[in-house]
Amino acid sequence: MAFRLHLVLIISCVHLICLSSQQQETGFVYNGFEQAADIFMGGFARILPGGLLQLTNTTELQTGHAFYKQPFDFDQSSSSLSFFTHFVCALVPPKLGADGGHGIAFVVSPSMDLSHALATQYMGVFSNPTNATSSSSSHLLAIELDTVKTIEYNELEKPHVGIDLNSPISVESALPSYFSNTLKKNISINLLSGKPIQVWVDYDGSSLNVSLAPIEIKKPDQPLMSRSINLSEIFQDKMYVGFSASTGNLLSNHYILGWSFSRSKELLQALDLSKLPLVPPPREEKKELSPLLIGLIILLVILVLVVLGRVYLYRRNKYAEVRESWEKEYGPHRFSYKSLYKATKGFGRDCRVGKGGFGEVYKGILPLSRQIAVKRLSHDAEQGMKQFVAEVVTMGSLQHRNLVPLLGYCRRKGELLLVSEYMPNGSLDQYLFNNQNPSPSWLQRISILKDIASALSYLHTGATQVVLHRDIKASNVMLDSNFNGRLGDFGMAKFYDHGANLSATAAVGTIGYMAPELITMGTSTKTDVYAFGAFLLEVTCGRRPMEPELSVEHKYLVKWVCECWKSASLLEARDPRLGRDFSAEEVELVLKLGLLCTNAVPESRPAMAQVVQYLNLDLPLPDFSPYTPGIGAFMPVSMEALSAIVFPSLRNSSFSMFVTHTILEGHGR
Ligand SMILES: *[C@@H]1O[C@H](CO)[C@@H](O)[C@H](O)[C@H]1NC(C)=O
Ligand SMILES: *[C@@H]1O[C@H](CO)[C@@H](O)[C@H](O)[C@H]1NC(C)=O
Ligand SMILES: *[C@@H]1O[C@H](CO)[C@@H](O)[C@H](O)[C@H]1NC(C)=O
Ligand SMILES: *[C@@H]1O[C@H](CO)[C@@H](O)[C@H](O)[C@H]1NC(C)=O
Ligand SMILES: *[C@@H]1O[C@H](CO)[C@@H](O)[C@H](O)[C@H]1NC(C)=O
Repeated sequence: MAFRLHLVLIISCVHLICLSSQQQETGFVYNGFEQAADIFMGGFARILPGGLLQLTNTTELQTGHAFYKQPFDFDQSSSSLSFFTHFVCALVPPKLGADGGHGIAFVVSPSMDLSHALATQYMGVFSNPTNATSSSSSHLLAIELDTVKTIEYNELEKPHVGIDLNSPISVESALPSYFSNTLKKNISINLLSGKPIQVWVDYDGSSLNVSLAPIEIKKPDQPLMSRSINLSEIFQDKMYVGFSASTGNLLSNHYILGWSFSRSKELLQALDLSKLPLVPPPREEKKELSPLLIGLIILLVILVLVVLGRVYLYRRNKYAEVRESWEKEYGPHRFSYKSLYKATKGFGRDCRVGKGGFGEVYKGILPLSRQIAVKRLSHDAEQGMKQFVAEVVTMGSLQHRNLVPLLGYCRRKGELLLVSEYMPNGSLDQYLFNNQNPSPSWLQRISILKDIASALSYLHTGATQVVLHRDIKASNVMLDSNFNGRLGDFGMAKFYDHGANLSATAAVGTIGYMAPELITMGTSTKTDVYAFGAFLLEVTCGRRPMEPELSVEHKYLVKWVCECWKSASLLEARDPRLGRDFSAEEVELVLKLGLLCTNAVPESRPAMAQVVQYLNLDLPLPDFSPYTPGIGAFMPVSMEALSAIVFPSLRNSSFSMFVTHTILEGHGR
C-alpha cells in the first residue's frame, strides 16, 4: 500500500516537472500566486493568503524580490531575444493620498540573488550607481514604476515609468499615462492610487515597448514608451525574469496580482483579470495636518482658552461681592449683585432715575415684575460696615405706610447697594422746584406733610428702637403711586434703644436742615424735629432753607418767614405757585409750626407726636410770637465748624462714609 502511494507521488512529481519544462518553452501565467512553487522569493517578499504576492510592506528600507525559478534561454546565436510580458501590480501607500515609495521594477537578471542590491531608489535591483555604470557586468534590464523623484538622476518630478539598463539611471522615462483607444488621447494614471495597474513590456528583438493601463482598460493601441534597444550586450545566455521592489523613508505596500510571460507574442497567455486576488485598500486618508496648521490650531485653542478665562474672570469680577461670615444672619435681606445687575440692565443709563451726591439711583425690575429702586453708593471704609448692615436690616423691619420699604442690600468692594421699593412718582423736590412738573396743590402739600410727620413720629416713638432719620428734606420724601408722601433714604439713619444716651453721635445732615446745637450736642430727636421744621417751611414756601445766591434778608428761609410774620404778612412767605386755592389758616399754622420746630433752643421744639397733633388740629399751637427768643434765629452751621468738630468724631460713626457726600451736597445748593 505504502509502495503504491510512493509510486503515485513519484509519478505526479515527474508530471509536474514535465509541465514546468513545457512552460519554459511557452512561458507561464499566474492569475494570483496561490500555486507558486516555481516562484523564488528573496528579501521581504511573501505570498499572502488569497494569492497576493507582496514584495514589501510599509517598513522602512525594505527590499523584496520574486523570480520565476527557471531561467530563460537568451542564447543570441540560436534564438531571438524577444520576450513579452503582461502583469498586474499595485502600489499601496499607507494612507490614501499620501506619498509612497519607492516602487516596483520588472527585472530581467542573470541571477536571482539580488541580496547585495540596495533599497530606496535602487529598487532592490542595483547596488551602487558608480559601481554599476563603471562595470557593465551587472547585465540588468529593469522597467521601473518609480514613485519617488531622485534629484541626482535628473528624474521626472512625479512618479514615473522608466527603462533602466544596468543602472538605476533610466535611459528613458515617462509620466504614467495610457492611450485611450476610445477617446484617442492620453490619460494619466496615478501610480499611488492603490488600485491595480496593468503593465505590458514587449520586446521584439529591436524595440522595447512599455504600456500601462488601469485594470478595467484593454491594452492601449499606442505604448507609453517605445525605444529601440539592442539587448544582446545586456542579456547573458540564461536570464531570470521577475520583480523587485523597495521602500525608503517613503513607504508603500508593493503587490503583484497576476503575471503572464512568454518568449513569443502569439503564445502569451491572457490573464484572467476576474481571478486576480484583491488588494487591501489603503487606510482612509486622515488629513495629515501640517505642523504649521497644528501650531495654528494650538495657538487658536490657547487664544480661545485665554479669552474664555478672561470672560470668566470678567464675569466673576463683574458680579463679585463682598460677603463676610457675620452677614449670614442677614441672608434674606441680601441681594446678589447679579440679580441687581440684571434687574437694572447692567446699571444702564436708561434705568438711572436719579443722581445725587450720595450716588446714583436706578430703577430695576426683578423677576415677577417687582419694581425696585437700587441706590448705588461708593464707600471705601470697611469700618462700621457690620453695624451699618445690621441697621439696614433693622430698617427692613420698620413698617409704616409712610416709609419707603427697604428691601435689602448688597455689598461689593468699594460699593454698597441699597434696595428699596420703587416709588413711581419720584421725590417731592422735583415737584416743588422743577417748573416742568406740576406744582402740588395745597391739599397735596398738607397731606404729604402729615404723612411725613406721622412717619417721623413712628420712627421716634413707634418702633422697637428709636430711629433718627437725620436727613429729612424734600428730596428724601418720595411719592408713591397715590401721591402719598413716604419718607425714604435711610442712608444716614441712626438707631438706638429707647432711653439710651446719644451724646456721642456725629453731626450729619444737609446744611439748612441741621439744628444749630448739632455740632455741640450731637444728634437727638430734636434735631430731626428741627429738620422737619425746615421741611415744613420748604414745602409751604417752595424755597430751600438756604439759598446762598439770594440777598442777606432772603438767604435764610427761617429768618425770612419770621421777618414776614413780624411785618404782619406771614402769608406772603407762602409759595406763589400755590395760587389762590389754599386755606389761609392752614398755611399760617404750618408756617408757625415750622418756626416752632426750628426754634434755636432744642427744648422749646415740640416732639413729633405733638407736631402730628398740631397738624391734625387736635391740639392748638402754643402761644408764641416772632419775637419769642429762639424763633426765627437762624444760625447756619458753617462748613468751618463742621470740619473742625464733626470729622474727628466721625471715626466711630457707622455712616461716616456718607458725611462727606452730604456736606458736599449741601454745599452745592
Ligand atoms: C512588515 O512585515 C514585518 C514582517 O512580517 C512585520 O514585522 C512588520 O510589522 C510589518 N510592517 C508593517 C508596517 O506592517
Ligand atoms: C561595488 O560596490 C561594492 C559595495 O557596494 C564594493 O564592495 C565593490 O568593491 C564595488 N566594486 C567596484 C568595481 O567598484
Ligand atoms: C501619448 O503619449 C505618447 C508617449 O508619451 C506620445 O508619444 C503620444 O503622442 C501621446 N498621444 C497623444 C494623443 O497625446
Ligand atoms: C512598439 O510600438 C510601435 C509603435 O506603436 C510599434 O510599431 C511596434 O511594433 C511595437 N513593438 C512591439 C514589440 O510591440
Ligand atoms: C545587436 O548587437 C550585436 C553585437 O553588438 C549585433 O551582432 C546584432 O546584429 C545587433 N542586433 C540588431 C538587431 O541590431
